[in-house]
Order: sequence, then structure tokens, then C-alpha cells
Amino acid sequence: MIVSLEEKYLKGFVTEEDINNIKDEFKRVYRSLVEKKGLGNDFLGWLNLPNKITYDELKEIEETAAKIRESSDAVVFIGIGGSYLGTKAVFEAIYGPFYNELKKPKIYFAGHNISSDYISELVSILKDKDISLIVISKSGTTTEPAIAFRILKKIMLEKYGDNAYERIYAITDEKKGSLRSLSNLEGYKSWSIPDDVGGRFSVFTPVGLLPLAVCGVNIREFVNGAKLCFNENDSDSLSLPLNRYSVIRNILYRKGFKIEILANFEPYLHYITEWWKQLYGESEGKKGKGLFPAGADFTTDLHSIGQWIQQAERTIFETFLIIEKSKTDVFMENEENNGDELNYLAGLSLNDINRKAWEGTSLAHFTGGVPNITLTIPDRSEKSLGYLLYFFEKACGISGYILGVNPFDQPGVEEYKKNMFKLLKKPGY
Ligand code: PA5
Repeated sequence: MIVSLEEKYLKGFVTEEDINNIKDEFKRVYRSLVEKKGLGNDFLGWLNLPNKITYDELKEIEETAAKIRESSDAVVFIGIGGSYLGTKAVFEAIYGPFYNELKKPKIYFAGHNISSDYISELVSILKDKDISLIVISKSGTTTEPAIAFRILKKIMLEKYGDNAYERIYAITDEKKGSLRSLSNLEGYKSWSIPDDVGGRFSVFTPVGLLPLAVCGVNIREFVNGAKLCFNENDSDSLSLPLNRYSVIRNILYRKGFKIEILANFEPYLHYITEWWKQLYGESEGKKGKGLFPAGADFTTDLHSIGQWIQQAERTIFETFLIIEKSKTDVFMENEENNGDELNYLAGLSLNDINRKAWEGTSLAHFTGGVPNITLTIPDRSEKSLGYLLYFFEKACGISGYILGVNPFDQPGVEEYKKNMFKLLKKPGY
């Protein structure tokens, strides 16, 4: 098992009796998910994705990625929501904040906001570079990426003339949407997103795989991790961490713990939390129900919202996401004058100290009335991350069904758009 689950700080909050009481309900929804008989069952293509991707599909993605890498100083990934966060999460988890200082081609993200300053600074960075664009939108009509694409395509056309189209790659619906018509018209190389896979469940399609391969991520190992998670969790046993996680969060929710904080002790995991927030927020928050998915980066946030977590209203529980082994081990050394009074740490690695910070925090929060569990992964490898992302996807499907909602639609997202389009006088609004 790549993801393990520690439950000792549920004591007094969730009992074995609670788990037993929800067992039949869980087994029923589990069956409706895997037999594809529940709500939103036309969007369950993601369930079997890891086993469906073929060697040839992966090879073709890798070959295109190699071509993009060779011909570009900078590559921009354009997309928002599920067409952005999976790639961003895995990219940041593997490379962290220093990728562009250490590796080539430089990677930039666009289309996930409408900030004038963001895009104009990006344009000025890109001006003297050889660029490729990967534009991703399942609907092919989302405003934010469409705006960024129009602006960045202009730069490409000024630079490369008609050859610009050979540097643009599109991932979108097979038939529908403006991005599909544009790529047919202008001849970009393109991939289709399966009809039955929604945006936030699409990281194991070209949506995540092409950009990640461009960044040098081993996408085979990433998919292998998801495959392993699929195989190891192909059962409704409540001894499996994935099933227990789905059930525990619902038991806590029913007891009034309405907010789940996914907390890490590793800055490289910040965007895994952002991806998780989107996955659970968009899947579960509807019909007046849903756990609120929040995030915390510790120890940084122990000096900010840590106070709130320790002592404010007792409506939160925490899920710690811990990495067993860091890639490096930096040791604290003894200093003769001990002016900073840190000699008590001499001989310990930062990993050891960080681990004690987690142990101390989980105990403090538990004694402060915050039930918490810990999910541990061995490392930040492609395989572990593939396993983890699939783990959260399947747990989200189960959990949404226990909650009694359709986890695979997002009707609420349309509301802001209607107002914005009306204000902008978009035809038809
Ligand atoms: O999960 C979802 O379906 C959404 O978050 C979408 O990914 C997001 O709205 C972007 O949509 P699109 O890929 O159609 O541009």
C-alpha cells in the first residue's frame, strides 16, 4: 500500500461502532460507483483510465513531449480548474518552486486568471524565447484560457508567422467547442478528452500526461502508480485506507465537523492541496451539503491559521498528508559558541525535526478538540503521486455518494459566468 492511514487521533470522535453503523450504506454506494449505476454515471470513465491507457498512447505523448522540449526555451500550459490543477500539482510536487532556475524548457502557466499584470509580465518574459503553447479546455469555451490563448497566439504569430501553428498543441473535446473548431481550422496537433471524464478527474488523460511529459515527468510511472491504486483498492473492504478515508470524513461531517483541512509539512505539496480542494469542493459542495475543503502548509501556517485551528470553533478536522522520506537529508551541526542556542538539535536532520513538528502538531490539535488522521506516502516519486491522486479521486466518488450528491457535475460554476457575461454584453446573455 503506497498510502497508509493513521487514525489514533480519532479516539473519542469516531468509534468502531460508528464505522459499523455506516457499513451497509458504504457498501451500497461502493457498488453503485464501481457498477456505474449511481448519480452522474455517464462521467465515470476516470475509474478505469489507469488500466485503459495503452503503451502506444503513452509513446505518442512522450514523442510529442520530446519534440516540444527540444524546440522550446519556454512552454506555456494554458488552462483552468481541472484543465490546470492536476498538472500544476504533480509538477510542483516533483520539482518544487525552483524548476525554472534548474531545468529546461522553462514552464509557465496561463489562463487560470484574468489578470492583466500576470499576462503582460508573461508576454514580456516570452518575447525573446522560442515558445510552444499547450492549450487545454474540455469544453473548449472557457473564458479565462480562451483570453490567454488569444493573447499568446498573437505573440506566436508575430514571431513565427504561419509556422506558429506547429508550435501549438490543443487538448479538448473530440467534436464540440471553439477550441476544437480552431484546431481543426488552424491545424494544431490535438488530443481528445474522453466524453465520460470530467475536468477534475482528467489528470490521467493527455490533459495531465502531455504537459507533465514536457516537464520531464516519467508519465509511465505516474500511470503505474494509479494502476496500483486501482488494483489494491478494488474491494469494498473497510480495512482499506481509501474506503476508510471516504467513510471517516462523512462520519465526522455528520457529527458537525464540517470543514476538512488537508495539512502538509512539505511546501512541495501545496498544489496537491489546491488540486484536492478543487476535486472535493466542486464534487461535493452542492444541494446545501458538502464538507468545506481547506488547506494548510505547515509549519508556515502554524504561525498564522494555526491559532484558529487550535482554539476556534470546533467544526474542523484535519487530514495530514505526510511524506515518509525526503530526497535529501540536511543535518544540523554543533556550533562551539551555541549563540543561537540550537545545539540541542545537533545531529538531527531537518527531516527528523519536521517529523517532530508533525507529531507535536497532530497531538496539540487533537487535545484542542480537532480530530485528525494522517495519510502517509513514501516519497514524492511519480509512482507515489499517481497512486495518491487516484486514491483521492476514488475516495471522492465514494464520499460524494455517501453524502448523497452527484459528485460529477458542477452546476454552480455557471452562476458567476451568467452575471459576468451579461455585464460584458456577451451575445445571448
Ligand atoms: O472539473 C471541472 O469540470 C472544471 O473545474 C473544469 O475543469 C474547468 O471549469 C475548466 O473547464 P474546461 O476544461 O472546459 O475549460
